[in-house]
Amino acid sequence: MDRRKFLQSTAALASVSMAGSTIAANAQAMMDKDSDEYWKTIMAQYKVTDEFINLNAGHWGIMSEPVLEAFVKHTRFINAYSSYFVGHGRAAIPTARNYGLERAEVISMLADKLGVGADELVLTRGATESLQLLISGYNNIEPGDTVLFGDAAYFSMEAEMRHLKVHRGANVVELKVPDPASHDNIIALFEQGIKDHPKTKLILLTHMANRTGVIIPLKEITAMARSHGVDVIVDMAHSWGQADFDFADQGVDFVGFNLHKWIGAPLGVGLMYIKKERMLDIDTKSSKGPPGNDDINNRAQTGTMNLAAVMAVKDALIFLDKIGIEHIDRRFKALRNQWTKEFLDDDRVDILNPEDERMHAGLTSFRINAHKDPRELGKTLLRDYGINTAPIPALNGIRVAPGLYSSKADMDALAVAIKDIVNKM
Ligand SMILES: Cc1ncc(COP(=O)(O)O)c(C=O)c1O
Repeated sequence: MDRRKFLQSTAALASVSMAGSTIAANAQAMMDKDSDEYWKTIMAQYKVTDEFINLNAGHWGIMSEPVLEAFVKHTRFINAYSSYFVGHGRAAIPTARNYGLERAEVISMLADKLGVGADELVLTRGATESLQLLISGYNNIEPGDTVLFGDAAYFSMEAEMRHLKVHRGANVVELKVPDPASHDNIIALFEQGIKDHPKTKLILLTHMANRTGVIIPLKEITAMARSHGVDVIVDMAHSWGQADFDFADQGVDFVGFNLHKWIGAPLGVGLMYIKKERMLDIDTKSSKGPPGNDDINNRAQTGTMNLAAVMAVKDALIFLDKIGIEHIDRRFKALRNQWTKEFLDDDRVDILNPEDERMHAGLTSFRINAHKDPRELGKTLLRDYGINTAPIPALNGIRVAPGLYSSKADMDALAVAIKDIVNKM
């Protein structure tokens, strides 16, 4: 085939497939977004290995194909233009893309989604970085003041809280989260903690616990803490993007997120939020000049970031917005209930978060009471049943975290595997 004919035929093919995808997009738009039929169209936009069923979306997320393609495109662009893209020379070629503008657009989209100001957000490389900046930078602690956290905190944030003893002379207190947790007993836990330690200044709250998936009543605890003059720093590594809640309504001042778990952006992007009026309560970084200014950008010093990953946040937000967080939340709950319902009346297996709909989304752990080696159990699930999960030795449990690419059949396979293991014991 000569080149002209080839071009004509590929153009014809392209128009057929574009027409096909327009029809598919229209059909998708007509569907009930809570139906399995609709979710098949979402699952089809993920390419995941069929070597095993991946129920460990809690570690980090998988990008959908549109996001991955955009990320590759951005990577190619940056690889071609290199630092010209961020440097002073770009004005000379007006058609070249401008990283500063693209990053500002990403921040503005994130601000719109959260219902906050763009000047209250700064990008980081993950939730750990954001939260370590917030905890170590919080400067309202006098020697002898108390700081509290629950034992559901993520290990590196717990370490940062403990370090406040050395760094600020704080009395560091860990509270034991009740098991089973309930809406009321978690509020009571922190309220009692403040009463027992009247010099409490700061609480670290993990909105959704990474080991159990328990979602705490954030708004209520924050309001209670505020009524005692206590600040909270919130870890939203797992909640934002997985559960449907109104961020602006939570009344929180200091929050760390990542965008590579449940927002579906490439690895290596996080976000830090500081309420504008509270900016001076977090120290500036030494490399960013003296304290006293209220620019959030002076409170993070990430060095060179993965620019393509930052740019792809826009694509990830567009992808999620087409579905809608209310449908994502319902989908995750449906995937969770698909397998947990099999064990509600089975006292050989414990489900480690409450049935209360306010207190879970998709990520949920279980324990086989007679099985004392969760690492071995995780290996058995992978080796004998082809299911990848996350063992949680501290709870003698296994964490199950479906993604938007997971099917109800995946969850059924898990339930069958657990039953089989239990029956053989
Ligand atoms: C509750 C919680 N906070 C923070 C993090 C750390 O997130 P990142 O990997 O973005 O630093 C994790 C990671 O699993 C987590 O589960």
